[in-house]
Amino acid sequence: MPSFMQKINMKTVTLPAYQGNIIRALRSLEIKEAEVPQLLDHEVLIEVAAAPANPSDLAFIQGGYNVKKTLPAIPGFEGCGRIVQTGSSDLAGGLQGKFVSFFSQSDRGGSWSSHIPVSASDCIILDKAMPLEQAACFAVNPFTAYAMVELAENTNSKAIIQNAAAGQVGKFINILADQAGMKVINIVRKEEQIELLQKSGFTNILWSQDENFPDKLGNLANSLEATIAFDAVGGEMSGHILGAMPEGSTLYLYGALAGRTLSEIPASDVIFKKKSISGFNMNEWKEVLSSDDFEKVSQQLQELFLDGTLKTDIQASFPLEEYEKAIMQYIRAMSGGKVLLLPG
Ligand SMILES: NC(=O)c1ccc[n+]([C@@H]2O[C@H](COP(=O)([O-])OP(=O)(O)OC[C@H]3O[C@@H](n4cnc5c(N)ncnc54)[C@H](OP(=O)(O)O)[C@@H]3O)[C@@H](O)[C@H]2O)c1
Repeated sequence: MPSFMQKINMKTVTLPAYQGNIIRALRSLEIKEAEVPQLLDHEVLIEVAAAPANPSDLAFIQGGYNVKKTLPAIPGFEGCGRIVQTGSSDLAGGLQGKFVSFFSQSDRGGSWSSHIPVSASDCIILDKAMPLEQAACFAVNPFTAYAMVELAENTNSKAIIQNAAAGQVGKFINILADQAGMKVINIVRKEEQIELLQKSGFTNILWSQDENFPDKLGNLANSLEATIAFDAVGGEMSGHILGAMPEGSTLYLYGALAGRTLSEIPASDVIFKKKSISGFNMNEWKEVLSSDDFEKVSQQLQELFLDGTLKTDIQASFPLEEYEKAIMQYIRAMSGGKVLLLPG
């Protein structure tokens, strides 16, 4: 370790083993103290100010996510904070002292922690005016919604179908699609979520438990010419949506909230109506962008946050030690907004 790097102790939420049951997984988590790992050349050390619990974090601690860390592991893929140490690379060194958002799925740490080593290229330098709560949830969902609306535009779909519409990605898709002149058909799972979306000025809202849901979805999809769908749920919902879409449509699966394999896929629609299913992953979208192009999108999105066009709903913040209470509150009502862990 270079002499100018001081040893720092960190406080972490630690996962001893993956547990399929979410309650058991939560109960198994522990608060631990440890020395921060020595930084690699390309890394920076972030003092975490705030980190959300996202659906991917819940899937991760249950062992149901595509990323597995070496156990015991620190959960949390995103957050925000100040850079307090840097590795020796030019990119890392240039970030000393900066306030950043980050998204990191590396084995080297997790955001549910007072400190995390992150590759410098996984940090987004923030405008000084960005509120901390918004910064904590900036690195994933806004870019995901941006990329999916861009994809819808590139495929010349006139409208987008989406489920989990009362969540944060769902909200951002409505706003960004409206700016792009596209309609959105919003599917929610609870009846009360209809009013929630109406209050935000969103339209074409369907309740998935409505007995006429398949017909209503089919009518809207065909009249609005919605040939693209973003599905965060999976299970039989994927088949129902694909079946309701016009000929030549594509459903992009980007989440698996139902926790089940896809079903009810209408075989004849796939064979004779050129309907297809594909996957969307923000990480892959980001990887093919040049750093200049990513920076342009980041600036554009930060401006939308700063002028209030985009805003992540935050329902509560808790000290790191109260992780169990925090995550239980989030699980009970995800549409109420994100729950933040504050390690400071
Ligand atoms: N592929 C990618 O690159 C990528 C990137 C970002 C996010 N995502 C995915 O996008 C999805 C939404 O994320 P988010 O951050 O917007 O979530 P969020 O704000 O936490 O909201 C989740 C929403 O999904 C609803 N929901 C939960 N379980 C459901 C189920 N089984 N069936 C139908 N609806 C359900 C919730 O409704 P309740 O209030 O009723 O619980 C809530 O409206 C997640 O699956 C996440 O993993 C994927």
